[in-house]
Amino acid sequence: MKNLRPLSLLLYLIVVLALLLSTPPSSAQRPNDVERRVNALLAQMTLAEKLGQLQQLDGEGNGNFRPEHLDLVRKGLLGSTLGVRNGGRPNQLQRVAVEESRLKIPLLFGFDTIHGYRTIFPIPLGEAASWDPSLAERSSSIAAKEAYAAGLRWTFAPMVDIARDPRWGRITEGSGEDPFLGAAFARARVRGFQGGDYSQPGKILACAKHWVAYGAAEGGRDYNTTEMSEQTLRSIYFPPFKAAVDAGVGTFMSAFNALNGVPTSANHFTLTTVLRDEWKFDGFVVSDYTSVKELINHGYAANDKEAALLALNAGVDMEMVSRLFNQHGPELLQEKKWTQATIDEAVRRILRIKFRLGLFDHPYVDESLEKTAYLTVDNRAVAREVAAKSMVLLKNDRDTLPLAKTVRSIAVIGPLADDKRSPLGWWSGDGRDDDTVTPLAGIRNKVSAQTTVTYAKGCDITGDSDAGFAEAVAAARNADVALVFVGEAKDMVGEAASRATLDLPGRQMDLVKQVAAANRPTIVVLVNGRPPTIGWIVDNVPAILESWMGGTESGNAIADILFGDVNPGGKLPVTFPRLTGQVPIHYNHLNTGRPPEASNRYTSKYFDAPWTPQFPFGFGLSYTQFKISNVQISAAQIRPEGTIRVSADVENTGKRAGDEVVQLYVRDVAASIARPVKELKGFQRVTLQPGQKRSVEFVLSAEHLGFYNRDMKFVVEPGEFRVMVGANSQDVIEKTFEVK
Ligand code: NOJ
Repeated sequence: MKNLRPLSLLLYLIVVLALLLSTPPSSAQRPNDVERRVNALLAQMTLAEKLGQLQQLDGEGNGNFRPEHLDLVRKGLLGSTLGVRNGGRPNQLQRVAVEESRLKIPLLFGFDTIHGYRTIFPIPLGEAASWDPSLAERSSSIAAKEAYAAGLRWTFAPMVDIARDPRWGRITEGSGEDPFLGAAFARARVRGFQGGDYSQPGKILACAKHWVAYGAAEGGRDYNTTEMSEQTLRSIYFPPFKAAVDAGVGTFMSAFNALNGVPTSANHFTLTTVLRDEWKFDGFVVSDYTSVKELINHGYAANDKEAALLALNAGVDMEMVSRLFNQHGPELLQEKKWTQATIDEAVRRILRIKFRLGLFDHPYVDESLEKTAYLTVDNRAVAREVAAKSMVLLKNDRDTLPLAKTVRSIAVIGPLADDKRSPLGWWSGDGRDDDTVTPLAGIRNKVSAQTTVTYAKGCDITGDSDAGFAEAVAAARNADVALVFVGEAKDMVGEAASRATLDLPGRQMDLVKQVAAANRPTIVVLVNGRPPTIGWIVDNVPAILESWMGGTESGNAIADILFGDVNPGGKLPVTFPRLTGQVPIHYNHLNTGRPPEASNRYTSKYFDAPWTPQFPFGFGLSYTQFKISNVQISAAQIRPEGTIRVSADVENTGKRAGDEVVQLYVRDVAASIARPVKELKGFQRVTLQPGQKRSVEFVLSAEHLGFYNRDMKFVVEPGEFRVMVGANSQDVIEKTFEVK
């Protein structure tokens, strides 16, 4: 008996050793090994090979590479491609890289997989409206799996730009106006794409973009200039990027815009001082498409050579599409304008990521995956769930919704009722229109044969024709209920899709007015990628659902909501203005010296329009009712480095199960820099059965209470703080405490 113990210990050790040997840690987990291999390789590279690693070139539109790529790859003069995918093409090009090039450095295949690859999920703005980052993590992880099957190893996502101006079309690609919500979604998406170890099959490298302040383009006009204080940069625009770094994002993309006069693709302060020196980011930075060459248009570089000089020296590592690093690198080095160390560092960063991706050990992707990975039943089910959970019920007078499945007749009206294209959004990867379940199809799937569903398009999304109005009105008149699907086309959102007005395009508003006049309960469903101005609808139509551009399964998800199989629980991640002229309008503004007062002319407001939004940030209804009460704080005073617990009860006081998003806001009442009237610092989406009550708790610490002061130091200043808990940013219960 006595001898058994050492024996079992020995056995145990043998098993552990065997396990360790049989599952070697992947390359991503052995930092020293990676650095050693990177340096060994670097030592063998010629200047041309080094510059080759700094180059990314675009493929042909259909996923193919260009004939020229083969030659460049063979010579070791290309580091990465953009858009080469599907049909084993990445492997084909990779084979040339690892079998025919001198140093066998594998290529990195990138592509914009933003909210899905073949299975398309809601636009990121929509997903953010779920206020449930775990959903974005799941959808990003499915997107990664499908993209991987197409031979891709890198996505240019997440887009984590804060956007306070809905005229900017790219608001659709991010998480809205708030840095705290944006940071939560940034983390979730990075985790979803990359997992814990992106060298694993089915995982891809993520890219936080667009660094930085691209979302603040003046006038909401894409590619336009940005001017802002360092304080605003650090407190509003940086946090989602920092969250991405903390979540281990492998790459960054420098943006198109100039920031305070210095283009962000040559901005030493953002690319090096902040990203490298402060945040210790050790991945690489890719420029946005030709943004290095565009330094000339900006008036920042006099010519191609100077553009290359400035971009690399500022901290761009890989150049997307323009080729100035390669064309002018040798000369710049010879003239000592670039140093060998700077070039080597850029190459080192790129190789490091290639090693972490496991590309040197496993350069190929199993091509058979393409046959089974796409649009699986499970992927579609998640897409449907995420889409439904992203939708926001904006109005529901007299319980117009949900509809009974036994309703006798429904008129399905509007240019977006049977549009297969727009629900996929602007960045739809390899999503196919034919896979889209339109709202009309979703409704038909849902109702029984006894229900008559009549479809009338009414009008186009754009254009002046009202030729279809009569048919639409007749359909409404002959039905028990009219559902009108209006909004935006796919190409009205996303890149280069700024709009000067947020009104519904074309004749759509007139269509809604005419249909509503038919005097049937009229429900408006918005299919769009940015906050619209829909005052007339809000004032005159009993029910409104914001469905965003909900992806492949959006029609089924819309039907799930309309017929009550899913109770809507999304909340707006961005303020909805009443009029375009109110923009920028965001909840976390400063108070001013003269906050608006209706009865006082000399206060901060408009002469000809209300100052309040149509729907505030964080707003959304449910088919049930919730009551938030009993807000408690754990202390009346804390020290600057202390923590405080905030709790509240949330109760489902209605008759259906549903989700409420409990939101926590904070205000630092007086500080050395004026602080916003409120800032989101916590949220929880909870599911409650009818009558069920729960307590939710938040913990606030320095990271939530502090801010960047005039010296750009993050400080918690003593004084009064307000804590606000509520179901949206306006409807809150307040408590105060003091930092001493
Ligand atoms: C330009 C866009 O700004 C960027 O977001 C995208 O990743 C690249 N093109 C590559 O498609």
